[in-house]
Amino acid sequence: MKIAVLGTGGGARAHIAKLAELGHEVHVGTRDPEATLARTEPDMMGTPPFKEFLAEHPGIELHSFGDAAAASDGLVINGIDGHNAVKALSVIADQLAGKTLIDYAVPFVYQHTPEHPWPTPWGIMPKLDPCDSDSLGEQIQRALPRTKVVKSFVTQEQTTVVNPASVGAGDHTMFVAGDDTGAKQQATELLRSYGWTDILDLGPLVCARGMEMYAHMHSAIGFGLGHQFGGHFGIKVVR
Ligand SMILES: NC(=O)c1ccc[n+]([C@@H]2O[C@H](COP(=O)([O-])OP(=O)(O)OC[C@H]3O[C@@H](n4cnc5c(N)ncnc54)[C@H](OP(=O)(O)O)[C@@H]3O)[C@@H](O)[C@H]2O)c1
Repeated sequence: MKIAVLGTGGGARAHIAKLAELGHEVHVGTRDPEATLARTEPDMMGTPPFKEFLAEHPGIELHSFGDAAAASDGLVINGIDGHNAVKALSVIADQLAGKTLIDYAVPFVYQHTPEHPWPTPWGIMPKLDPCDSDSLGEQIQRALPRTKVVKSFVTQEQTTVVNPASVGAGDHTMFVAGDDTGAKQQATELLRSYGWTDILDLGPLVCARGMEMYAHMHSAIGFGLGHQFGGHFGIKVVR
């Protein structure tokens, strides 16, 4: 398939590399391809410049967000920073029309001064906005009524999403939520191709609220396991 990955961050790179390995034609979206290729320093997460990644993954095409979405023949993965995703996706609504958009972004706001901060090994825990009575997934769906939004991948490190067998021989759970059954089926098929066997359909897109709010619990479990950032572990829904 021709699959677009919107984003050049660490999570997006996990999908880009895996999709290419699986034989898909991968089109990557960034704000300004020239500016992205001109970067020579790691980003704030320590992720190396995208040019280095491209050199290790020949055949990947880098475009603007809109051109990447247009190049997809039906499936797009959103890896745009959650706080900026609605705005960036809204301007490419036409290129996303009729397509399935799998969104794994977390609506984190990094710069904030909470009354009761949660200190972490890497600074104050970001806050979620929206939270509780709305979600980023729903905001994206409202902004893109002609696109079928599926929330998935978000409860995991993306390196684990593309390689579930790396934890507990793959015996853990991944979630999907969305309002379009066919789109959720597409997301499920992609997850199966990544190696997932336990994929739980949570139902409508409103369940994205729970998936996004789990971000804090994911961090807490990681800290409990002694990880500074993220973590290599799975969660299993035991029935
Ligand atoms: N990394 C993971 O394993 C993981 C796991 C679960 C959830 N998430 C969430 O998924 C999202 C993406 O994560 P990530 O690690 O792949 O990448 P990231 O570093 O969080 O985001 C990088 C992407 O966001 C774009 N971006 C940043 N500011 C922007 C702005 N003002 N306007 C438009 N685009 C902007 C960047 O565009 P350029 O390409 O132009 O620089 C880049 O493509 C985040 O919300 C993250 O919290 C990540």
